[in-house]
Amino acid sequence: MLSRAVRVRWRAAVPLLLACCLSCTGGGSGEGVPTPLRGAPAGAPGVGDPLFPQAGNGGYDVTHYGLGLSYDPASGRLTGTATVTATATTDLGRFDLDLAGLTVGRVTVDGRPATTARSGTELVVRPAARLTRGARFVTTVAYAGVPELLTDPDGSHEGWFRTDDGAVALGEPVGAMTWFPANNHPSDKAAYDITVSVPDGLNAVSNGELAGRTGSAGRTVFHWRTTEPMATYLATVAIGHFRITRSRTPAGLPLYVAVDPHSDDPRSAAALRHIPEILDWESGLFGRYPFASGGAIVAHLPSGQGGYALETQTRPVFPGDSGPPAVDTTTLVHELSHQWFGDSATPRSWPDIWLNEGFATYTEWLWQEHEGGSSVARSAADAFADPATWAFPPADPTPATLFDPPVYQRGALVLYELRRTLGATAFATLLRTWPAAHRYGNVSTADFTAFCGRLTTKDLTPLFATWLYGRTKPARL
Ligand code: ARG
Ligand code: ZN
Repeated sequence: MLSRAVRVRWRAAVPLLLACCLSCTGGGSGEGVPTPLRGAPAGAPGVGDPLFPQAGNGGYDVTHYGLGLSYDPASGRLTGTATVTATATTDLGRFDLDLAGLTVGRVTVDGRPATTARSGTELVVRPAARLTRGARFVTTVAYAGVPELLTDPDGSHEGWFRTDDGAVALGEPVGAMTWFPANNHPSDKAAYDITVSVPDGLNAVSNGELAGRTGSAGRTVFHWRTTEPMATYLATVAIGHFRITRSRTPAGLPLYVAVDPHSDDPRSAAALRHIPEILDWESGLFGRYPFASGGAIVAHLPSGQGGYALETQTRPVFPGDSGPPAVDTTTLVHELSHQWFGDSATPRSWPDIWLNEGFATYTEWLWQEHEGGSSVARSAADAFADPATWAFPPADPTPATLFDPPVYQRGALVLYELRRTLGATAFATLLRTWPAAHRYGNVSTADFTAFCGRLTTKDLTPLFATWLYGRTKPARL
């Protein structure tokens, strides 16, 4: 979640850095030019996202990422091998992975050396033998370098953040490609095994469950496993000194909370102690928690670089730079609600992000009312009165306005209006059945409006026309 001040600050747009063309070739060694690239059936260089045309790739569907990472905090150098297991959805003579920066070494497909080329953020892979539609294939990519930090069109940063003693990876919307080659679009979710080798004395925390921890020759290797499908933008690694707290919610869910000692202020600690209570409260509203574990990572980013929390799967990251307390309870409620809305039920494409942020904002409103603070009606009235809410319809952001108030506040107002029209009972059913029906899947705005339509005999067309699609501010709330 973003503070309002941060959102406004980001409105100073910077040029879109991610655009690239297939005619330009990226830098870095370890590149071979596929011979010939023409003629072979090719996977598309993007999945056709309206906002990020180069994000993701066509022709295959990843089922598992095995990332073997080794990090040297002193130099900032990351060395990795990505083992990507996928199914071809068409015959493929070549296909792309997304990768920004870094140097690619040996690449194999099904154990045989493949030729590669770089083109902007596309890593083009030409296997020795053509892949046939339906075939499961395994690509390995060896890579190394000092990962870059991306500056997004809204002026915010994402990707691989170097910290004073390690690093933190944040990938929404496209920063995952700064630290591993991927089908970097939320429509292709996969399971992960992430191992991270770090110098002894440091910790490496990631998504899912800690499956192993081994040491040798002055280094410790942490093995993190995510078995439920995860979008690339929700993958994280945090390396550094962390105080680790393991506990369980009253319902028995294992929690793993990692706090950088620099960010260990009493108010953050007090907020983090609410995790079990918040998860139980949210489970009561949204149904069973979707993952095998939970927790949080409180990092310590160089000041001015972070500025936002991110709902990384099972373990949201809170930035904790030198500013105010790293974690506040409202932000915690927001990021934890994303575990249902965004992480388990994931946007099909980036214009659907209001289905994440609208629900997460509405959950903040519910929590404040639950805690005896502002009523939901008061929060809705405040959002309605804010001119920034009305800049564009919620499902119509640009890359520069992905995290702006229309996505968050106006998204929440769509839900507020739905509650009024559906009534409390049907709305409570919506909050529970929407994430359950799409658990571990992808959701679009059209899926949502159709789903709502099935919960009522009323015609919801005017509601959506006004609150979801309308270009002007409605006369009244
Ligand atoms: N999804 C995050 C939240 O609201 C915000 C991420 C902001 N990302 C960015 N690159 N500015 O919980
Ligand atoms: Zn959010």
